[in-house]
Amino acid sequence: QDAGLSWLLLVSVPVLAVTNYWIVSRMLPIFRSMQQLIDAVNRVMRDQLSGVRVVRAFAREPFERERFAHANRTLSQTALTAGTWQALMAPATTLTINVSSVAVIWFGGLRIDSGHMQVGSLIAFLAYFTQILMAVLMATTTLMVLPRAAVCAERISEVLSTRPAVISSEHPVRRPRGVDGRVQLDQVSFRYPGADQPVLQDISLFAAPGTTTALVGGTGSGKSTLVSLICRLYDVTGGAVLLDGVDVRDYEIEQLWSAIGLVPQRGYLFSGTVADNLTYGAAPGQKVTEEQMWQALRMAGAEGFVRTHHDGLQMPVAQGGVNFSGGQRQRLAIARAMIRRPAVYLFDDAFSALDVHTDAKIRESLRQFTAEATVIIVAQRLSTIIGADHVIVVDDGRVVGAGTHESLLASCPAYIEFADSQSLSAGVGGRP
Ligand SMILES: Nc1ncnc2c1ncn2[C@@H]1O[C@H](COP(=O)(O)OP(=O)(O)OP(=O)(O)O)[C@@H](O)[C@H]1O
Ligand SMILES: [Mg+2]
Repeated sequence: QDAGLSWLLLVSVPVLAVTNYWIVSRMLPIFRSMQQLIDAVNRVMRDQLSGVRVVRAFAREPFERERFAHANRTLSQTALTAGTWQALMAPATTLTINVSSVAVIWFGGLRIDSGHMQVGSLIAFLAYFTQILMAVLMATTTLMVLPRAAVCAERISEVLSTRPAVISSEHPVRRPRGVDGRVQLDQVSFRYPGADQPVLQDISLFAAPGTTTALVGGTGSGKSTLVSLICRLYDVTGGAVLLDGVDVRDYEIEQLWSAIGLVPQRGYLFSGTVADNLTYGAAPGQKVTEEQMWQALRMAGAEGFVRTHHDGLQMPVAQGGVNFSGGQRQRLAIARAMIRRPAVYLFDDAFSALDVHTDAKIRESLRQFTAEATVIIVAQRLSTIIGADHVIVVDDGRVVGAGTHESLLASCPAYIEFADSQSLSAGVGGRP
């Protein structure tokens, strides 16, 4: 009816939209960093909770308190900034609406004065005008939650779109008669994701069923990495790991993992009972009887302390197994790996926390139990290594020697050095 005032709408709606857009675009990065700061606070807290004993032992409480306070302070400051911007939105919107209303009345009054417009039309126009701006306001309120939601959505999709590094192949191989356990590494090289130096280079070795292979090498030489490649916790970056002549990447992952018993360097026990932890090692679908559990415990030299506990197999295990000694934990981890009677045993420094006597006893019973299986042991003790059929010396990610203890003593300088250092310390202890 009267289009003369419509231009006000054309001015005020864009002004409202542009202000809001400006504020929202300011808030987006703030929210993004806020999520990261929330991460940081959680990380610091987790660190401190799991390392609380270390913190106390080193009297670092003030330092840790300050570290947490710092993370917390940064978060609250960022939250405040975000809040300020958010708070700015409401007054900006109200201001625009009210100024526009005043302008409508002002210009409308002028038009009425000059006889171009009726008072009724002005009132009607004002009502519609406010309604339109209210709708914009509603949209803005929705917009206020948008930045935060957008950042959260980004992070969720980040997690959802993460692909596992180790995936089953398209056409997995399943061996109906099970796995014999011939382990072969063919010119394997490996680099951790994100690292620029390869950890392992050009490693070739062969381990047959019924034999024991010892891996020897200084700390950080890549032994644990080698072990985790065999059970496919990582995929090789060059060459191939073969089990029974088939690339481990072609196996059905379930079958591969149930053919291998791993005792990791840092065995983790789950909260629950000893029996729970032992059944954890069972192959899918395997029923474990109490008799089998006791047998595995006996083999691993863990029967004694479980028997003497009044709960027996129901002996409680705290999270991470903190209510056990390091050696007891290792022995339970060994028992857990033995319960499924795998074709390949991987012991990553699994005897390190045991005294020499217990170590010898366990290895003796293991030798009978694992007579048919392929055993690969990462070892630091000469006594373990002498008993092995085959010794591989790893240095700085390369194989520098392979053979038996005797042949290596005759040929491999790195091994001679290693053996010397051990017999030296033994000699010092044994001399009258
Ligand atoms: N998850 C990882 N990400 C990146 N680098 C790693 C990772 N794990 C190990 N490394 C690096 O790989 C190298 C070899 O580590 P590895 O654990 O295999 O040594 P190791 O021979 O088992 O030593 P140790 O005798 O002390 O157990 C080290 O230099 C280490 O820094
Ligand atoms: Mg290691």
